[in-house]
Order: sequence, then structure tokens, then C-alpha cells
Amino acid sequence: MKIYIEKTYIMISIIAIVALIIVVAKFITKRFSKKGSFFFKTIDTKFMKIHKPLAKILIVSGTIHGILTFSNFTQFGIRPYIMGTICLLSCIASMASFYMKKRLKSIKKWVLYHRFFAVMSIVAFISHIAFSR
Ligand code: HEM
Ligand code: HEM
Repeated sequence: MKIYIEKTYIMISIIAIVALIIVVAKFITKRFSKKGSFFFKTIDTKFMKIHKPLAKILIVSGTIHGILTFSNFTQFGIRPYIMGTICLLSCIASMASFYMKKRLKSIKKWVLYHRFFAVMSIVAFISHIAFSR
């Protein structure tokens, strides 16, 4: 039974990691689209279209993956749990900044929060991987 749970959370972590990379890649596609080429503009529009659903997939899969890893709690030490939680919370905070944009007053301000938490999620993610097996 344990081996199936382990395989499941590893498979789900792959979904989460792919979603995280594509969601954060929006930062790069936006910069390229500013160069004015039609090709990069189309790519950026495509990335924007999938950004929102993928962010939701990221948070759902990250949560399920995190819960399932508790089946092996004694095996990894506390560090991957702490960094995984920080990564997940940063993704949620990034998402929340969009939905709270009216409260964050100017449009510009919400993007700053959005970007800040995205960077935090990447830093936490890298440490999360470094601390796992
Ligand atoms: C449902 C959730 C989300 C919504 C509705 C959303 C919405 C948006 C929008 C509208 C933009 C374009 C901003 C602009 O170009 O002015 C954007 C950019 C971006 N988002 Fe999200 N986002 C969500 C979740 C996330 C998550 C979870 C992450 C990463 C952890 C993330 C990372 C980014 C990054 C890196 C950019 C590029 C920012 C920049 O160009 O400086 N987003 N998002
Ligand atoms: C969006 C958030 C997350 C992403 C993208 C993510 C991704 C990953 C990846 C790619 C791995 C390495 C593959 C593996 O061996 O399983 C991993 C391992 C691990 N993650 Fe996460 N994770 C996230 C959130 C969490 C959370 C919230 C927790 C727990 C609170 C957690 C706990 C663990 C543990 C304990 C391992 C080590 C498992 C092992 O080495 O077999 N993760 N994670």
C-alpha cells in the first residue's frame, strides 16, 4: 500500500512541477512579447490563457502531493516539509494577490506582490528539491 502512495505522490509532484514551471514562465514570455514580434506576442497570449487554470492545478496537485508525503513522514526529516509548505503558501499568496487586486489599490501594485510571491515560490521550490531525496 505504502509503495502505491509513494508512486502517486511522486507522479503528482511531476504535475505540480510542470505546472509551476509553465506558470512562472509567463514572466519570460511577457518580456519577449515586448520586443514586438508577432510570434512572441502569440506565445505570451497562449501562456496567459493557460496561466489561471494551471495555477489552480498547481495548488491542488501541490496540496495532494504534500498530504500524501506524510505517509513517509519519518523518512525525510522536517526540512522538505517546511520548504514544500513555504512553496505552496507562496503560490497561494501569488494567486490571492490577483483576487485582492482591488484591495491592493493600483493595478501595478498587485503585480508587484504577484511577482514577489512567484520568486519566493521558486526559491522555496529549489530548496524543497535540495532537501528531498
Ligand atoms: C488563479 C491564479 C492566478 C491568476 C488569476 C494570475 C493572473 C496573472 C495575470 C493577469 C498576469 C499578467 C500580469 C501583467 O502582465 O500585467 C500574471 C503574471 C504572472 N504570474 Fe500569475 N496568476 C495566478 C497565479 C500565479 C501563480 C500561482 C504564480 C507563481 C507561483 C504566478 C506567477 C506569475 C508570474 C511570474 C507572472 C509574470 C509577472 C511579470 O510579468 O512580472 N501566477 N498572472
Ligand atoms: C507546489 C508545491 C510543491 C511542489 C511543486 C512539490 C514538488 C516536489 C517534487 C518535484 C519532489 C521530488 C520528487 C519526489 O521524490 O517526490 C518533492 C518531494 C517531496 N515533497 Fe514536495 N512539492 C510541493 C509541496 C509539498 C508540500 C506542501 C509538502 C509537505 C508539507 C511536500 C513534501 C515533500 C516531501 C516530504 C518530499 C520528499 C519525497 C521523496 O523524496 O520521495 N511537498 N516535491
